[in-house]
Amino acid sequence: MSYGSFKLEPVCSAAMNTKSTQQNEESFGFRRVPKQMKAGMVREVFDRVAERYDLMNDVMSFGVHRLWKNMLIARANPQPGQLLIDVAGGTGDISRRFLAAAEKVRARKGGLPARACTNDINAEMLFAGRKDDDPETLTHACANAECLPFADDIADVVTISFGIRNVTDKPKSLREMLRVLKPGGRFLCLEFSKPTSQMLEIPYDLWSFNAIPALGDVVADDRESYQYLVESIRKFPNQKTFAEMMTQAGFAKVSFTNFTGGIAALHMGWKR
Ligand SMILES: C[S@@+](CC[C@H](N)C(=O)[O-])C[C@H]1O[C@@H](n2cnc3c(N)ncnc32)[C@H](O)[C@@H]1O
Repeated sequence: MSYGSFKLEPVCSAAMNTKSTQQNEESFGFRRVPKQMKAGMVREVFDRVAERYDLMNDVMSFGVHRLWKNMLIARANPQPGQLLIDVAGGTGDISRRFLAAAEKVRARKGGLPARACTNDINAEMLFAGRKDDDPETLTHACANAECLPFADDIADVVTISFGIRNVTDKPKSLREMLRVLKPGGRFLCLEFSKPTSQMLEIPYDLWSFNAIPALGDVVADDRESYQYLVESIRKFPNQKTFAEMMTQAGFAKVSFTNFTGGIAALHMGWKR
């Protein structure tokens, strides 16, 4: 126990040290890193891929991510006058799709334009997605999903698409997204998930671990970032576990729908 008598250090104390180290660590792909370093490391990844992000999404998924996002928007059921907060929104396509869908309804029914705010921790991603957006309807907020810069109970819909697996403290971020949602508001989370059949899992693993980092190398000149993206997908909890995390965070009527055999899943919940 005393200095220099390290051989006598009790086993339980060594075990406690290991446990406390584990508690202060988080997965970054397949590596364990100190919790406080993860957000910065994730930010570096998306800094590097920002310019080629949209192109790489199409290449990696053969454009299928667009269909998944269309289904998210259909479930969100955007209406005139609503406010969407899209968390970890990157280049902002969920916000734009939401506004376009709400405009279609407004053309028929009238009402006020819908509004959206794209949030992301990474300014490079927000900049890479800048288009001729109308600042009256589409705004941006650069902030961590664990500490959203919005008042309580303001959004009709909160979305997070392929973002939650990158967040260090997922329960905290889920509680934040619930906080900003209005009572009766809807939360939708689109994320890569666990394929439901082994027949799919084997080719999917081959594609993910071989083709995607190689494509990242060729298209974005960045193999390492795409290696992280693939690994982070495998570390993310499966459909049922994530649904339980949402319930724990306080969401009501939690459900999920698998897309493309569970390669992606859309989780939904409501604020009471
Ligand atoms: C894979 S991209 C998804 C972008 C977009 N939502 C989409 O569906 O294409 C993940 C995004 O999450 C952002 N992100 C990672 N950690 C975050 C955090 N803690 N808070 C907010 N955004 C975060 C990244 O900067 C990146 O833009």
